[in-house]
Amino acid sequence: MTVTLTICTTCKSAATRALNNDLRSAGMVLAEALESAALQRQTDAVTLIRHDCLWACSQACTLLIQGEARSGYLAGRFEPTEGAVTAILDWAAAYAATPDGVVPYAKWPEGMKGHFIARIPAAKEGQS
Ligand code: FES
Repeated sequence: MTVTLTICTTCKSAATRALNNDLRSAGMVLAEALESAALQRQTDAVTLIRHDCLWACSQACTLLIQGEARSGYLAGRFEPTEGAVTAILDWAAAYAATPDGVVPYAKWPEGMKGHFIARIPAAKEGQS
């Protein structure tokens, strides 16, 4: 299954701003790093989308991982580091590989632990 990884490109981080002279937002730096790493992996299991604010600004940098007929996950408190990029893409690949979107905790990359903010249940048609 192909899943979607939506990255907030407007998240700000004081730590990242101190390291970058080009004034890009931390979210933009993270998005570019994720896109570059995903290209190198040559997989179509994860589609990356850039998006403005995901309304979790105090938890920057944030992202949303979601797929059809499965819960989505809002995660944050990332810095745009190589370790974070690897953990995010590894978790997204594990999520895509499951039949129901439930990644067993034992398979979580260390870099994802403590970063989840919310689990968003899949929408169901016809529910009232
Ligand atoms: S700016 Fe990233 S969640 Fe608001």
